[in-house]
Amino acid sequence: MKIESMQVNHLSKPIGIGAEDLTFSFKISGYGSLESITAEFSADADFKTVFCRETENIEPFGFSPCCVFRGGKRYFWRISALGANGETATASSFFECGRENSVWDIPFITTRKENRVSAAFIRKFTIREIKNARLYITALGMYEAYLNGKKIGREYFTPFCDDYRYLLQYQTYDITGDLRVGENVIAVLLGNGWYGERHPAGKCGDGAFGNGFYLSAEVTVGGERLLISDESWTEVRSPVVFSEIYDGEIYDARKEFFLPDGRVKQDAFTGENAVFTENPAGKIIPRISPELCERESFLPSLIVTPSGAQVLDFGKEITGWVEFTAIIPPGGEVKLLYGEIMQNGELYRENLRTAKAEFIAVGDGTEKTYRSHFTFFGFRYVQAEGISLTEETAKNFVGKTVYSSLKITGKIDTANEKLNRLAENVFRSQKGNFLDIPLDCPQRDERFGWTGDAQVFSETALYNADCVAFYDKYLADMREEQLRYGGACPFIVPDAFYAREERNEGRKPVSDGEFMLKRVSPGWGDAAVIIPWNLYRFTGDRGMLKKNYANMKLWADFLIRTDKNRGGKHIRDYGFRFGDWLALDNPDKEEKHGKTDEGFIATAYYYNAVRLTARAAGEIGENDDRVGYEKVAEEILAALKAEYISPDGTVKSDTQTAYALAIAFGLCDKKIAGKRLCEKLEENGGKLTTGFVGTSFLLGALAETGHGKEAYSLLLGEDLPGWLYAVNLGATTIWERWDSVLPDGTIRKGEMNSLNHYAYGSVLSWVYKSIIGIKQREDSAGFVRAVISPVIDERLGKVYGEYDSACGKYAVGYEIKGKKVVMKISVPCLGEADIIPPEGYRIEKTNGERIESGSVSLKSGEYEIVLSHMC
Ligand code: BGC
Repeated sequence: MKIESMQVNHLSKPIGIGAEDLTFSFKISGYGSLESITAEFSADADFKTVFCRETENIEPFGFSPCCVFRGGKRYFWRISALGANGETATASSFFECGRENSVWDIPFITTRKENRVSAAFIRKFTIREIKNARLYITALGMYEAYLNGKKIGREYFTPFCDDYRYLLQYQTYDITGDLRVGENVIAVLLGNGWYGERHPAGKCGDGAFGNGFYLSAEVTVGGERLLISDESWTEVRSPVVFSEIYDGEIYDARKEFFLPDGRVKQDAFTGENAVFTENPAGKIIPRISPELCERESFLPSLIVTPSGAQVLDFGKEITGWVEFTAIIPPGGEVKLLYGEIMQNGELYRENLRTAKAEFIAVGDGTEKTYRSHFTFFGFRYVQAEGISLTEETAKNFVGKTVYSSLKITGKIDTANEKLNRLAENVFRSQKGNFLDIPLDCPQRDERFGWTGDAQVFSETALYNADCVAFYDKYLADMREEQLRYGGACPFIVPDAFYAREERNEGRKPVSDGEFMLKRVSPGWGDAAVIIPWNLYRFTGDRGMLKKNYANMKLWADFLIRTDKNRGGKHIRDYGFRFGDWLALDNPDKEEKHGKTDEGFIATAYYYNAVRLTARAAGEIGENDDRVGYEKVAEEILAALKAEYISPDGTVKSDTQTAYALAIAFGLCDKKIAGKRLCEKLEENGGKLTTGFVGTSFLLGALAETGHGKEAYSLLLGEDLPGWLYAVNLGATTIWERWDSVLPDGTIRKGEMNSLNHYAYGSVLSWVYKSIIGIKQREDSAGFVRAVISPVIDERLGKVYGEYDSACGKYAVGYEIKGKKVVMKISVPCLGEADIIPPEGYRIEKTNGERIESGSVSLKSGEYEIVLSHMC
């Protein structure tokens, strides 16, 4: 038995979080049942003085002790568990709250002249004695802070990506170790990032949230304020002479102001003093984002193209930047052009659309290590210009991935190498798109938190990795927007589109929701219910559900209100809709909307939203809400059936997506729908036609209606369209379109063609649930009651998978041996699992003992189960 994954607000050892509403969670690994759990809290690492000890109601999924925490303080907490067999386990961790004063009483400073390119501020200070010191800091757009020449903290793209109209996070850094007795210099570089300039994909200076550079910071030493951002800070020229999220960066080493020993060049101080500016209108809050750091390193091989260009191939599509060390002559330039694919032997970049995606390093004649600061690139290939490379020196160029904290929790390993590779590609796309917000793609002129993509992928993402705090933060921005948008959840969160409209045209959303009908879409806005619900189902954290229930309710009420505004017929045949985006069944092959009736899709999602909100209300004891939403949900379902289901039980829209949706949401007789779905597949030569909406439900709908074989055939199909098609073409991530690259290796023409778009990777949740066979009972949360019931298919003779759930790790492995299947199952300490044999099989033995019943319930432990085929 071991205590693991101790987290506060689902963050590991966070520094600088808010002092209120803290939720503590942990996992217990090992087997057996528990006798007791104790939680202790102390202000010292040795727990000499414990100010709070709790033994009742310590819910590992999330508990809130009855004690008060204060800003500016570091706390230590310890969990001790006693097993029923006398075994004990104990572990401790710490967290630190943000500023003592929860009100951000620190001024903002800016540049004296209007400046949209980049900025840097610097401030000298002296200390006599080194004591515990902190930097509290935020800015608009992005900042990197340095103390005595060394970057502070290991994170990038701070203060992170929020809807800056409403929220701005500040970060807390422990700077004690980098202080010097005597003179110190703090410097802050600022770039546009997600805040200003061209984001979201506009013209120069079109910035969604604003333009210019704003900094607010405080340094405390020994708990006392030493300095704040004020007019004593000097503006200095920044070595980042250009930076823009899509276009890239120019870094001029000649403009660096730190000397190698951490002191500052004399002439750096000739700049003007900063000026005070108004604080931004939004709330300034302690950090809620998980850590966003450099993670992995990839070394390239060198390709010399037919035209003589030097292209570095990193072997995989990654997101981050290339870091390189070189001596570039003074004023000389090395240019890196980022791209995803080679065409005709040369780097191809047209699918980046207007994003220039380049990095230029200007040298100063000394050896330097270069990287970009305020943007990232989605790439596999990088063309290097201005430097002559050999296979050997190409290794000085290192591909670095940057993404939010994603502790891996899932594992898929089957006898089919291509399926394993698909799983790997999904993981890679998740890493490549989880940069503080769930991006649609990391390379072209978008990189937005598209809500539709985020919701279809969320279940897979939560199986793959711990991204609870990541989504929780996304929901915080969404909630702020919904509160102002009459409950509407926009296309993208943070809503840079509307922020820009509001800024440039002065429009304001109208609270009856009507105004936003053009800015939301079924399946996209539904992120407001689906993500909170998935988070709850995966974590079992009711406190989190209580908070995020607001998003669900706001969206459900928005849908109900706009329905009422149209007479309350419950049929959503109005408003903007993306439909079954990028589906293949539209006769017009260039059309991005699929063929499925968009009113049907919208009404189905409407029903689902209200139904899930009712369920969530029930979970958190909001019974009036539950009853109210249940009633509306029933009415919607009745209206939907009358409008969209034929008397023979088929769906009028009669597309694969329509049936997949109907089965997944329970909109009609499942047997009839399953049969018709199979017929639709057969009519199309066994090929899928589904787009963003239908794809995530397709295999589940087939398997649920007894068509597991067909589901396997789709998953393992190697032709277009299908998941393994891209694997065969050497994909290392998931593509935006089934045919993003054509069979002859040429890239599909057209403006929507990202090679790192995770939406279709949503299929992996089906692999976890139905191939590995780890899912949970409908009435369970946190995987307390798992259901282990794989769909067995001889095409995968051997399967192994894991899911390290909120209540510990479930593992399932099985091998088909003739008419028997031998399964090895582990059930974690806090879990329980119902083993339900797949169709056609019965359980023969459990741990060597013969079994008569159809299914078994297993407590924590390791088991061998033998299934035998019934015919
Ligand atoms: C994005 C998406 C998104 C879609 C909306 C695209 O440009 O990349 O993935 O969901 O627009 O239809």
